[in-house]
Amino acid sequence: MPQWIDAAAMDDIEDEDVMRFDHDGRTFAIYRVNDAVYASDGLCTHEHVHLSEGFVMDHVIECPKHNGRFDIRDGRPLCAPVCEKLQTYPAKVEGGRIFIEI
Ligand code: FES
Repeated sequence: MPQWIDAAAMDDIEDEDVMRFDHDGRTFAIYRVNDAVYASDGLCTHEHVHLSEGFVMDHVIECPKHNGRFDIRDGRPLCAPVCEKLQTYPAKVEGGRIFIEI
């Protein structure tokens, strides 16, 4: 059963940036773009590199290892070498805190 988890303060993350969030043995990536927040699995589907080390441009995360890209809104792969979708999760801001539903 998915639950909303308090993951971070909005102030912990810059706009157009990504941060790592570990919870219950899993790792996630949380994104902030134009003051909206998004969440996904934390590891690239290509070779399990932490996407929190990557770069955010608009609604795209670029993996730091081979520059594969995903749309952070729905996890779809945008260019080689990534071809497997990235799992995304609902995210919201309440009272200055970021919550993700996992
Ligand atoms: S590990 Fe992410 S593109 Fe290869």
